[in-house]
Amino acid sequence: MVATLLHEIPLEGGDVTDGVVRVGDTVRRPVSASTPAVHALLRHLEVMGFAGAPRVLGVDGLGREVLTYLPGVSGVRLESVTDEALEGLARLLRDYHDATAGFPLTLDGWEGGSNDDRAPDVLGHCDLTPDNVIFRAGRPYAMIDFDLARPTTRLFDVVTTLRHWAPIADPVDRPPLLRNLDVGARLRLFCDAYGVPPRDRRRLLELARLRFQRSYTVMRGRAAAGGNWAKMWAGGAGERIRRAAAWLDVHEDELHAHLV
Ligand SMILES: Nc1ncnc2c1ncn2[C@@H]1O[C@H](COP(=O)(O)OP(=O)(O)O)[C@@H](O)[C@H]1O
Ligand SMILES: [Mg+2]
Repeated sequence: MVATLLHEIPLEGGDVTDGVVRVGDTVRRPVSASTPAVHALLRHLEVMGFAGAPRVLGVDGLGREVLTYLPGVSGVRLESVTDEALEGLARLLRDYHDATAGFPLTLDGWEGGSNDDRAPDVLGHCDLTPDNVIFRAGRPYAMIDFDLARPTTRLFDVVTTLRHWAPIADPVDRPPLLRNLDVGARLRLFCDAYGVPPRDRRRLLELARLRFQRSYTVMRGRAAAGGNWAKMWAGGAGERIRRAAAWLDVHEDELHAHLV
C-alpha cells in the first residue's frame, strides 16, 4: 500500500474520470472493473522496457490506483501538431503495440469486446486523444489513461488515433486554421511512420466508418446513464460523429488514394 500524502492537485485534462489528482510525483485515480487488467498491462510494458506509459505503484489508503506522474504537456492544440509530431505519435503507438507482444489477448478482465470484427492482434489503447498523450519539448513521448484498453486490432488503434489527430473530422469541427488541411497527406504520413501494411491501408477508411457507427451508438448508450458522458453528448459529441462520418463519405475516394 502506498501512503496518501496531503497535498493533492486536481488534474482536469480529461472529460471522463472525476477525482484524478496529482500527489508529488504520483497520480491517483479511482479504480474500475478493468483496473487489475490495466495494471497487469502496465507491468508488462515496464518489463518490456517501454518508457511511454506510467508505472503502477499500487493502490493508496483511499482505494485509488497510484501511477507515476509523467511530466510534460497533455491536451496539446491540434494546430501545434506538426508533421514531425504526428510521425512521432505514430512511432509511439507502434512501439507501444510492439511492447504488448506476449500479453494475453483474451477478453477476460476488460470492459467491452474488441472494437473490430477481425480477430484481435494487439492489446490496444483505444483512446489516444490529445488529452491522453504527453508531450515534452514538442514531441509526444507517453500515453496515459488506459481505461478503454482491450484486445483489438492494430488497425483499430491506428484509426482511432487518426480520427483525433489527422483529424478525420468535418472542417467545421476542426480549429479554424485547419479547415483546409490536407487530411489525406496526414493519414499517409502517419501510416508510413507506423508501418501500416498495404492490406490494412486498404481497409482503413472502411474501419473508420464502422468505428463512427459504433462509437455513436456506444456513446449514446453511456450518455443515457447520465454523468460526464451525458454532458459530452449534450455538448454535441454525437453530432460531431455524424458530421465526421458524412464528411468521410464525401471524401473517401480522395483520402483512399493517399493511402494505397
Ligand atoms: N500519469 C500521468 N502523468 C501526467 N499527467 C496525468 C497522468 N494521468 C493523468 N494525467 C492528467 O490528468 C488528466 C486526466 O486524467 P485521465 O487519466 O486521462 O482521466 P480521464 O478518464 O478523465 O480522461 C490527463 O489529461 C492529464 O492531463
Ligand atoms: Mg483521459
